[in-house]
Amino acid sequence: MSVGTPSGLPGARPVAGRASYVLLHNTSEVVTPDAEGRRVVRQPRAAVVFRDGRVLETGPVGELSRRHGEARPVNANGRLVTPGLVDCHTHMVFAGNRADEFQRRLRGEDYASIATRGGGIHATVAATTAERDDALEKTLAARLERWRANGCTTVEVKSGYGLEPAHEIRLLELMRGATQRVPVRVHRTALLLHALPEAYAERRDAFLSRLCDETLPAIRRTGLAHSVDAFCDRVAFSVEECRRVLERARELEFALRLHADQLSRDGGARLAAELGARSADHLECANEEDWTALAAAGTVGVLLPAAALTMGQRLPEAALLRRSGARVAIATDFNPGTAPAQSLLECAALAARMVGLDAEELLLAITWNAARALGLEAECGHLNPGAWGDAVVWECETLEELPYWMPAVRPDCVFVRGADLALPALERRVWP
Ligand code: NIG
Ligand code: FE
Repeated sequence: MSVGTPSGLPGARPVAGRASYVLLHNTSEVVTPDAEGRRVVRQPRAAVVFRDGRVLETGPVGELSRRHGEARPVNANGRLVTPGLVDCHTHMVFAGNRADEFQRRLRGEDYASIATRGGGIHATVAATTAERDDALEKTLAARLERWRANGCTTVEVKSGYGLEPAHEIRLLELMRGATQRVPVRVHRTALLLHALPEAYAERRDAFLSRLCDETLPAIRRTGLAHSVDAFCDRVAFSVEECRRVLERARELEFALRLHADQLSRDGGARLAAELGARSADHLECANEEDWTALAAAGTVGVLLPAAALTMGQRLPEAALLRRSGARVAIATDFNPGTAPAQSLLECAALAARMVGLDAEELLLAITWNAARALGLEAECGHLNPGAWGDAVVWECETLEELPYWMPAVRPDCVFVRGADLALPALERRVWP
């Protein structure tokens, strides 16, 4: 596996013949970030041609149908077409749920104190460790299918509910297995600093040494992860601890990401910028200086509205984000503790209300900028010629409707590598 190239997509090889040559026509408009991801280009009633799994071109329907008479026509029924969405931050390999903790928090207990009383990340680690491999893999595959049915064609998945290095590696292997069952691109992240394993309770340093000396090189050798993440927070790991592990990860040529400034402002965003991380995620407590540092470093700031809302926190205002010049992505952060959120578009609809980004900015945040956070912006997150043929026909007509409706607009049809594969019947799927 080459670094930064998600593998394991069944549809990754182009389908031979006419099936791999498609003209998507009768759209209300085709909307896509431009190739640099600077602005959104809107083409009313345009068509899209997919060939051999990639976008060949977009443009006026008359011209494209004349030039691509051999292509199989697919009717968009007068609806909106966008690139497939990119969810750049999820923790979707876990067992059980923490609805009980959510109730405790609604009654006034806080996240940190629940964590010290047997709940929190350790509760999910126990449930996940006790779960059988095949059950975890099946649940993960079902979740990826749900994401696809909600319009996501590329999804980042973090480990992090194993803690012990061998258990983290198990979760990364299960991801690789699940990915082979579903037509969604998966970017695997090793979240190695999430919480301290109990066996290392008084030996934090020994844990970090083991990650640097054994675990990271082993993950590099086996190609199990594309990037490495850490939870930088008072309740998790310090800036110095994260720096040590991420510097080693960088030496081994992993892409870096960081859970930064979520529960308090601890210097996480500045560390991400200093290390040239691909993304700094959460940032509920980050200030304008932090955002400016991210902009200067080219690090994408990833907002997680479902987590902020669940934890009763605020997100930065759109005006601050615009002044900083940073690239902003939005993701679900799907996890059982702080963000049981299963629709990326729903999270964008929340961000519209919590942050004040507009429809075009929101589209960039869940396509091009999210792809950039994964280092995949040359391949996905837009419909420019040469990009993967990943696109969504939505059950609405205008871009402005995407962040407007709640619950979020549903896809009518999702293309992966230029193929409009059937969507799963969500209602019959095991919840969640
Ligand atoms: O992204 N912040 C750290 N990790 C998760 C929550 C983990 C949990 O509570 O299980 C997050 O919010
Ligand atoms: Fe997270």
